[in-house]
Amino acid sequence: MKLRKISESVSWLGVADWNRRLFDALIPLPDGTSYNAYLVQGEDKTVLIDSVDPDKSAILMYQLQSVDTLDYIISQHAEQDHSGTIPMVMEKYPEARLLTTPKGKELLLKHLNLTEDRIDTVEDGETLDLGGKTLEFIHTPWVHWPETMCTYLQQEQILFSCDFMGSHLATTDLYATDMDEVCEAAKRYYAEIMMPFRKIIRKNMAKLDTRDIKMVAPSHGPIHKDPCCIMNAHNEWVSDSVKNEVVIPYISMHGSTQKMVDYLVSALAERGVKVRLFDLEVTDIGKLAIALVDAATLVIGTPTVHYGPHPAVFYAAHLANALRPKLRYASIIGSYGWKSKAIEQIVGLIPNLKVEVIDPVMCQGTPKEDTFAALDKLADDIAAKHAEL
Ligand code: FEO
Repeated sequence: MKLRKISESVSWLGVADWNRRLFDALIPLPDGTSYNAYLVQGEDKTVLIDSVDPDKSAILMYQLQSVDTLDYIISQHAEQDHSGTIPMVMEKYPEARLLTTPKGKELLLKHLNLTEDRIDTVEDGETLDLGGKTLEFIHTPWVHWPETMCTYLQQEQILFSCDFMGSHLATTDLYATDMDEVCEAAKRYYAEIMMPFRKIIRKNMAKLDTRDIKMVAPSHGPIHKDPCCIMNAHNEWVSDSVKNEVVIPYISMHGSTQKMVDYLVSALAERGVKVRLFDLEVTDIGKLAIALVDAATLVIGTPTVHYGPHPAVFYAAHLANALRPKLRYASIIGSYGWKSKAIEQIVGLIPNLKVEVIDPVMCQGTPKEDTFAALDKLADDIAAKHAEL
């Protein structure tokens, strides 16, 4: 795709990566992704904001064939999907200076083949005059690395946000049109990489709220011409409010845990509590991450393998612990053949979750009346706690 103009002085460049299905060899990308870069032209200076993943360098370099001079390259984030083509761009434009945060400089020198003498650092609030156009650098750390920043084109009120408010979507749409689709993808992205830094990101959102923003131009996914929707969604995700929802990731070996899970789902639904259920044998781990963004309670369901939880439950519990969702309550249900230490081991896996643990329910063999009664009590306790939210 060729350069596409998005305003008087800004053009989009970049690549839709339709076939990428995994990010960081970890994060499922059901809809592919894109890498956006932006060319900003003032009366005197020309700037490129970010680049593309090194796998797609040739496309960006092709797009830059029509650009004769480049005075600055701005690196908002040192991760390679945005910075990886910068060395090639620097080689094509030997006069260009690379601008980044002080931490960004440190990381770029570690990750890329660059020399220090061509990098200048920019402070929070510093501006760059391009001739009739002014770029302001806004440090927004921990989205999701420590060096991240946004860049604000003051005259046109465009915010270049890099990963922040981005969405993993491969699309020919330059602008967000189907907001349900875009917000789902953005929520997946937030859940998987930004949620652990929720409180810092909340401060970053407050910082951005002091600017009049007419367009948000992220480095993944479509551009937001009406940014209220995506900004409101992020403000909600980073808030402390939780929903009357229980997330149940589980797995079952011989059907006992399955029966317990099915019973609990029904019991919670009867009490007006919404349940999001994930069979770890088949689930998209990204969907589980999305569900954890808003839920009040996590209930982990596991059979016992040797003494401990099933390995798939280890993985899910580790992931939930790493993502640090704003859960308030947690519990464990499950089964065992002859002995189990699953509860102790799962509790040990989730120290980051600052939750109140509600009495777990473990059952030897197939569940019977006493187990169902305990599950009814668990549903009662959860519903009562949710009613107080
Ligand atoms: Fe899109 Fe953190 O890289």
